[in-house]
Amino acid sequence: MSQPKHLPQAPAATPIAAAPLVPRARFPLLQNAPDLVYLDSASSAQKPDVVIDRLDRFYRGEYANIHRGLYPLSEDASEAYDQARVRVARFLGAERDEIIFTHNATEAINLVAHAYGDHNLRPGDLMLVSLLEHHANIVPWQLLKERRRLRLAGIPIDDNGDIDLERYEMLLAREPKLVCITAAANTIGTVTPLKKIIAMAHRAGALVMVDAAQAAPHFRLDVQALDCDFLAVTGHKLYGPDGIGALYVKASLMADLPPFMGGGGMIRSVSLEHTEYADGPRRFEAGTPAIAAAIAFGTALDFIEQIGFDAIGAHDAALADYAANRLPEIAGLKIVGAPKKRIGILSFVMDGLHPHDIGTLLGESGVCLRAGHHCAQPLMEHLGITGTARISFGVYNTIHDVDRLVDSLARVRQMLR
Ligand code: ALA
Repeated sequence: MSQPKHLPQAPAATPIAAAPLVPRARFPLLQNAPDLVYLDSASSAQKPDVVIDRLDRFYRGEYANIHRGLYPLSEDASEAYDQARVRVARFLGAERDEIIFTHNATEAINLVAHAYGDHNLRPGDLMLVSLLEHHANIVPWQLLKERRRLRLAGIPIDDNGDIDLERYEMLLAREPKLVCITAAANTIGTVTPLKKIIAMAHRAGALVMVDAAQAAPHFRLDVQALDCDFLAVTGHKLYGPDGIGALYVKASLMADLPPFMGGGGMIRSVSLEHTEYADGPRRFEAGTPAIAAAIAFGTALDFIEQIGFDAIGAHDAALADYAANRLPEIAGLKIVGAPKKRIGILSFVMDGLHPHDIGTLLGESGVCLRAGHHCAQPLMEHLGITGTARISFGVYNTIHDVDRLVDSLARVRQMLR
């Protein structure tokens, strides 16, 4: 018997991703809204019970400020925060002292622009930024360019939305000092050949800043194997709380990196004339940090690792293939980009319909997706469009969510005929 078009071409008897990887019941928001189709995890993931419970437990019974109190409550909170740093380090294959807690990936990238860029890049130095980047990995470099009178050039992409490695090689001949690259594009899902891009940059004498905000929930990032210099992640896309992120800085660079912000917690001693700074990551964590969020971020990473990236990757691929099969059933719908490898993100446009209208109309039928330029305007300009509608998958999604999406899109198409 031939398979209906909309079923994934999987050998298994049960279609992959017919059930969620983690039951919706583990996500209180989804459990309380059984009809909600949440296809916006690239924007922010829903939170599992363990993360919410950890925040609750910490605030109800363990809360105190850290690294300041000499009483057991504060000492225990300090220990939990320090352990969260160890947890993030292990997740990324880093050492504890290579991880700085920030409030999100954007702050992590800005930290590098200030602490590294302001002190190491000289007027006229060249930085490369790929066309796939989110504004978070563009604007901080433009600001740095203005401050330090640098130059900035774009790494082109090909028609499928993959990095154009030949033209990248040509740009490297201009001896850039820094290459800024995403591990996975937030708009069209492209997974970049990171290891190759980093090795090529290093051969040309450039350091590499990796924006891994989108990639980290989908596949293992090992900073040692990648040999990157800086890498940014954010907690809220990793099923953790918002307001917490992390920056990996290679140990050899961390040692000489001056602070980004001054204040309490980042010093060894202060007189009115002079300050000695703390060693390691604490030099970059001025003020009371996001203590509870950092601790629950560690719990979120436990949650992800218990599922495992093999299972997550297979689930993502099954959902993305299924969606790529079914979406073209809608008249006038076009999927944007066809990269060699993608995470669970798909962008599309529809003839005669603004992406914002798609987002609003689907929202009214309980389907949540992101619509617009996705903070990636240079990519939109390159593609000759103003925006897309974007779906993105998490561990709670199934092919039935995709079916609901396609049904809703068909209704919208019908309505506007
Ligand atoms: N950076 C997030 C996104 O791509 C917000 O939607």
